[in-house]
Amino acid sequence: MHVDLPLMSDMHVHLRQGVMLRNVAQWTGSCCSHCLVMPNTVPSVATAADVASYRTEVVEAFKHYPHCKPLMTFKLSPSTTADKVMAMRGLTVAGKLYPEGVTTNSGDGISRKILERPHDYPNFMDALGAMEQAGMVLCLHGEMPDEFCMDREVQFYEFVRWVLLQYPKLRVVLEHITDYRSVRFMRVWGDERFTATITAHHLRLTLDDVVGDKLNPHNFCKPVAKHPADRTALLEAATSGDPRFFLGSDSAPHPISDKECAAGCAGVFSAPVLPELLTTIFEEQGALPHLEAFTSVNGNRFYGLPQPTETIRLERESWQVPDLCNSNVVPFLADQTLPWRFS
Ligand code: DOR
Ligand code: ZN
Repeated sequence: MHVDLPLMSDMHVHLRQGVMLRNVAQWTGSCCSHCLVMPNTVPSVATAADVASYRTEVVEAFKHYPHCKPLMTFKLSPSTTADKVMAMRGLTVAGKLYPEGVTTNSGDGISRKILERPHDYPNFMDALGAMEQAGMVLCLHGEMPDEFCMDREVQFYEFVRWVLLQYPKLRVVLEHITDYRSVRFMRVWGDERFTATITAHHLRLTLDDVVGDKLNPHNFCKPVAKHPADRTALLEAATSGDPRFFLGSDSAPHPISDKECAAGCAGVFSAPVLPELLTTIFEEQGALPHLEAFTSVNGNRFYGLPQPTETIRLERESWQVPDLCNSNVVPFLADQTLPWRFS
């Protein structure tokens, strides 16, 4: 028994730099036609020159996967101006807004003050206006700094509504939604220019998998996995075929030493199990006919990209996820058995 799936589009992936990038490219490269590469590197990707040099590094890492096109993004910061945005026209498809301090490498993100009173910050407003004019997508890490961690997503909606009303032509993605209220929010506000991504790990995890028994730092990510009712709402949204929801894995590799320590980093490294896990989840939900809408169709449609002609094959054959990749990164579901194999 097998499933043939059009090459996926992972519309949110962290590939990092240097050796880590060269080591992790194989997983995204082998199963995707497109991937949207996050800019929270060190230093971050913030200018046209940064984008150009990071793109060169990423393209080199993907050279064995010619069917996979990396799409570049830049990181918005308080010093992003309309001119800087315009200089990135044609180089980036999206700009990523990280609220200050909410996740890995977001210390130079957008402060709560700006998010609460954006009208007081003309540079910020002009930068978003330039993105709208340039046809770039605004990708939002939707968490309000300094709120209780389980409510950060909900506290961010007011800013989202402001963006949608202030920039009626700007295309916006609410990234990695985790809260049942975000699913409801998307069903009210979402349309062909406002969509949401969902990760594979948030379709699997609840907070219990992070802290319910022994602490599992490899399931710790931002936004944190929430209540079983939230996961149920995400499963319904992802498996519905609704074009407003599509895959953004947020696969985020960190060396094991940065996870298994005090002050461990947020991030789930799901790339090594992505097609296998998604097939497993959609099968469990009785929703295999909607798998390709979520993994391969809806994201391309939103970003205006061609649909892939090539497919990948998943065989119904169990395999064990390794406990370590490249001798220093623990993959999601390490050591566990999955019923679908992609090779
Ligand atoms: O868990 C996360 N890890 N969430 C993010 O938003 C960033 C990511 C990372 O870069 O490690
Ligand atoms: Zn991310």
